[in-house]
Amino acid sequence: MSLQLGDVVPDFEAPTTQGTIRFHEWIGDGWAILFSHPKDFTPVCTTELAEVARLKSEFAARNTKVIGLSVDPVESHIEWEKDIEETQGQAVNFPMIGDPEAKVANLFGMIHPNASNTFTVRSVFIIDPAKKLRLSITYPASTGRNFREILRVLDSLQLTDLYMVSTPVNWNQGDEVVIATSLSDEEATERFPKGFRKLKPYLRLTPQPDR
Ligand code: BEZ
Repeated sequence: MSLQLGDVVPDFEAPTTQGTIRFHEWIGDGWAILFSHPKDFTPVCTTELAEVARLKSEFAARNTKVIGLSVDPVESHIEWEKDIEETQGQAVNFPMIGDPEAKVANLFGMIHPNASNTFTVRSVFIIDPAKKLRLSITYPASTGRNFREILRVLDSLQLTDLYMVSTPVNWNQGDEVVIATSLSDEEATERFPKGFRKLKPYLRLTPQPDR
């Protein structure tokens, strides 16, 4: 059975471009993003890795570390990083796991044999400080990911962990949020002093509580 939301993610030891890590220990007390790419020295992956590096401070602002993976060895990642810096004008500033035997890839279900027997798909996992899986998405090899969407989901997860709200379609920081249906109107009035708009008993919108 593949990993499901809420599961504690597997722990493992693996070599990375920044030394050997034990995954749970590396995550520490914060959040983590583990993402895979199909292969080193490929064009879409080259653009993705540079973008993740550019966004490193955005991830750090959300107490989140990032780590990449492909089924290539660390030596190959290190060679490829030179090309990434040369062509994208951005050095890779986060660790990349070398996984030539696909041990980690198989633990996380990153190889989808009907897509490719050998390459990892483009997986993204958001892992919370309790080491639980909070988001899992899979993109095909031919489609580069939008890592700003990953930041948006992190914002939503971190906000909804703190307040009894959820985030509606296309939500972004500063937009209205949805009040949990488990709260009565009286409780909502108490919890959300800025007030709320009641469109239906189950659809009540309030300004973002931490703004
Ligand atoms: C790429 O990163 O460009 C790529 C990798 C594997 C298959 C297709 C595209």
